[in-house]
Amino acid sequence: MLRRSWAFLFIGALVIGAGCEGPEGPTGPAGPQGTQGLQGPAGPTGPAGQDANENCTQCHTEDVTLYAKQVQYGESKHRLGGNFERSTTSCAPCHTHQGFIERIATGAMVTAANVVDPAPINCRTCHQIHTTYTDADFALTTTAPVELWNAGHGTVDYGADVGNLCAQCHQGRVLSPVPELGGADVTLTSSRYGFHHGPQAQVVGGVGAFEFTGSRVIAGGPTVHGDPDSNPEVCGTCHMAQAFGSQAGGHTWKMSYLYHGAVEENVAGCNGTGCHTTVPLTTFDHNTVQTLVTTLLADISTELQRIGIQGVDHYAVPGTWPADVVAGFANWQMFEEDLSHGIHNPAYAMAVLTNTLEVMRTH
Ligand code: HEC
Ligand code: HEC
Ligand code: HEC
Ligand code: HEC
Ligand code: HEC
Repeated sequence: MLRRSWAFLFIGALVIGAGCEGPEGPTGPAGPQGTQGLQGPAGPTGPAGQDANENCTQCHTEDVTLYAKQVQYGESKHRLGGNFERSTTSCAPCHTHQGFIERIATGAMVTAANVVDPAPINCRTCHQIHTTYTDADFALTTTAPVELWNAGHGTVDYGADVGNLCAQCHQGRVLSPVPELGGADVTLTSSRYGFHHGPQAQVVGGVGAFEFTGSRVIAGGPTVHGDPDSNPEVCGTCHMAQAFGSQAGGHTWKMSYLYHGAVEENVAGCNGTGCHTTVPLTTFDHNTVQTLVTTLLADISTELQRIGIQGVDHYAVPGTWPADVVAGFANWQMFEEDLSHGIHNPAYAMAVLTNTLEVMRTH
């Protein structure tokens, strides 16, 4: 009787349990890890890696090419000129490495700020050194034709090989004020009036001078010296001809050097590359062009000093002057600072300066 009632109670509890479920218990511990799956198929081959040393040695080798260029560059005025402390916003674009790189990127005529710790023009200014770390980095930093800073002087194209790079910096700075031939008098406030040092891009291209009417016809434009179709390297053909030690040519950019106390002219560029081959030159003063241009410059200077616009120090005399006299001064300054004494563009130099002298004599 007692056993039956216990059994009854048990069955009753089961019946009640089945009809009314209790709260879920806590999660049990994680089971053991299953066996590892099969390895997948091999992936596609990745791109070939680069051996850092192999890259660097495209330039840094035991051969002395780089060293020879460094030695030449070390003697150049780009390295030794010492004017790279001209690092304020309007000078830095041509006188400092940093300013030039910034200008090439922005296209502006000034840097955003003065350049601190300025570096002189160096390998990295002209070449893309340490950009991809391959020898492609000897590519030049800029090769595009150059829109000259002076309004109306247009765009010059001295070729992508060398000349366009040089023309970026070796161009006249903006002339202000600009006289108009036969126009109103002009007032000069600065003794530094003119196109600044280095207006070679203008002279080589036969642009930018004031074209007085006179006994010569001023054709303008470049001669074969400045025409990349017949002279692909333009500035480079003459200034980067085969190097003579570290005295001239190559990365010295120098045209002449002292040899046993006498000036030697590096005519290698003139006579090479199919130029003056029939009658090789022995002097830059070919057909006495340099003598004639030097004489014209001296005679114009005499007139400018007589008129009073030029001082004995050759700087401008501030004051109000006839427009043509101001233009005559600007022409003298352009060809004087070009420093080639006519070689960059014999026809243009002779014509512009002859007519300038004639007009200055009438004042
Ligand atoms: C395009 C050729 C070129 C390649 C490629 C190249 N270099 Fe240079 N390297 C130069 C030139 C040019 C200089 C500067 C020499 C001078 O200023 O006189 C230089 C300078 C250096 C210097 C001296 C410090 C300095 O910056 O002036 C070191 C260090 C150097 N390179 C390391 C390397 C390493 C490492 C690699 C490879 C990862 C490499 N270079 C790849 C051309 C190259
Ligand atoms: C970043 C601007 C810049 C570039 C690019 C440049 N130059 Fe120069 N160059 C100068 C400056 C500035 C000086 C004067 C340096 C000084 O006095 O400190 C100079 C000096 C020179 C001189 C010496 C002038 C003298 O009075 O003896 C020659 C020659 C020359 N450059 C030729 C070239 C040639 C050729 C190229 C192109 C391959 C070139 N330069 C590219 C800015 C430049
Ligand atoms: C458009 C480029 C350019 C700008 C901007 C420029 N210069 Fe120059 N400068 C040159 C070049 C190129 C030469 C080298 C000319 C040569 O020797 O044939 C030079 C030469 C000089 C020289 C040396 C002259 C000599 O007889 O050796 C001085 C000093 C100078 N610049 C000062 C300045 C100052 C200061 C500024 C700013 C107010 C300035 N430059 C802005 C391109 C520039
Ligand atoms: C004022 C600009 C300028 C500077 C600074 C300069 N170079 Fe050059 N370099 C050139 C030009 C332009 C050429 C191309 C010459 C040619 O085509 O004849 C060149 C050519 C070269 C070449 C031959 C490149 C090739 O592709 O075969 C080497 C190497 C070289 N430069 C190394 C250097 C080194 C190293 C320095 C620094 C010590 C340096 N350069 C500084 C303008 C420059
Ligand atoms: C046809 C050859 C030739 C070409 C092209 C040429 N030059 Fe010259 N350059 C000369 C000669 C020659 C001198 C004068 C050297 C002398 O009388 O001592 C000179 C003088 C210079 C000077 C004055 C410093 C010096 O060495 O006397 C600079 C700066 C200069 N040239 C830059 C340039 C630039 C920039 C270009 C290209 C836009 C260029 N040259 C194109 C031959 C050339």
